[in-house]
Amino acid sequence: MASSLDYYVMRPEEYQTVLRGPHHKSKPLHDLPGASSSPLHSSSGTRYTIAGPPKANATNDILDSPDLLWMEDEMTQEELSQRKNTVSTAVKSVPQPNPLQANNKARFINRASQYWADFYARNGTRFFKDRHYLGAAFPEFNTTIPYTILEVGCGVGNALLPLLEANRSLVGIAGDFAPTAIDALTSSERYSSLVGEGRCHATVWDITKGPYPDPPYSTGGFADAALMQFVISALPVDKMSGAIENVKAALKPGGKIMLRDYGDLDDGQISLLKTIGSDASRVIDESTLVKQDGTIVHYFTLEEVRNMFEGAGFIVEELEFIRRQYANRGDKKVRRRTWVHGKFRLDDVQETPGGDDTNKDIVVVSKSDAIEAKEVDAPARLSDDHDKTKCACMIS
Ligand SMILES: C[S@@+](CC[C@H](N)C(=O)[O-])C[C@H]1O[C@@H](n2cnc3c(N)ncnc32)[C@H](O)[C@@H]1O
Repeated sequence: MASSLDYYVMRPEEYQTVLRGPHHKSKPLHDLPGASSSPLHSSSGTRYTIAGPPKANATNDILDSPDLLWMEDEMTQEELSQRKNTVSTAVKSVPQPNPLQANNKARFINRASQYWADFYARNGTRFFKDRHYLGAAFPEFNTTIPYTILEVGCGVGNALLPLLEANRSLVGIAGDFAPTAIDALTSSERYSSLVGEGRCHATVWDITKGPYPDPPYSTGGFADAALMQFVISALPVDKMSGAIENVKAALKPGGKIMLRDYGDLDDGQISLLKTIGSDASRVIDESTLVKQDGTIVHYFTLEEVRNMFEGAGFIVEELEFIRRQYANRGDKKVRRRTWVHGKFRLDDVQETPGGDDTNKDIVVVSKSDAIEAKEVDAPARLSDDHDKTKCACMIS
């Protein structure tokens, strides 16, 4: 068994983190945001440990190591085929939906915002934990120059609020189609204080229906990056491409989409299939299932993520699975989780709306120009001309 010194140690709120894979393993402890100066213990005395050497078939190691909560994981081809087989067999055993089930299935798709609104009405801000690992996962968010993030499907702000609080160079524009989530977010003191600094705005937005709705952002081209955390997976597959187009409209030339989402053959997919049993209303397709609360979840292969973003004109900068083992000491079980990490960049070439195909109508902005333009600008603050002016300057 590996010694605990082989592992990174993070603050409790960071143990869910997720650095991007085995090539990060040799990174020294002090390079990791939040790494404790007393490396082996948190203030409560518990060791919170994440990354370690990949451990195929090592599920007992984590249970046998009381200090470990999370550790890196990898799956052999054999394990992956077994999982694929389990999923296919479970899905094949689900009968064709009867008329009532077909009706329910259509309702899960067509009334998705209602199911999420109910979810937040029940859970408020208590369900998701603040996500403190995003600066480690996406170093762009540690910038010291003004940088606007569009958070898509922001929920109650568990990703955006910690990011903006940690870095005053960031401005956050956010949307979610669940009005109860936006109410909980916008009525929080944390949000008000960021609004007071002119650094945050959130509104109700269904990404399958159109671009960001609130002026001045509704005309697009304002965001350096869009953060999509576990949101595309909440859509039926046939609505994903349209949603990405609506997000893309908000990006500046060269802007990026930062993605974290559920990965194919995750333990969550397998256990959800078990609870679904033969209820045909809750199987939309092999990888798209309906949870007990009526919300949809899709488990992505890397290939489909690549096709989706390349199809929308993005360049794939990073795309990989993150696999982690998690020890649930209560039931003495190990969960093997799989997430997708991706970063996708828009080309720096932007077509002028309504233009023809002469050179005059294609405006090229190099990334270095964009950075120069941002460096001379006053710190980003929300106002009618915020960022849109900057963007207009950059492309004129
Ligand atoms: C799993 S939660 C993730 C919340 C948040 N991104 C986070 O990581 O904490 C999925 C979120 O996506 C939102 N969502 C789902 N479909 C959406 C859509 N079509 N438009 C906007 N938001 C959507 C839900 O309301 C929910 O807040």
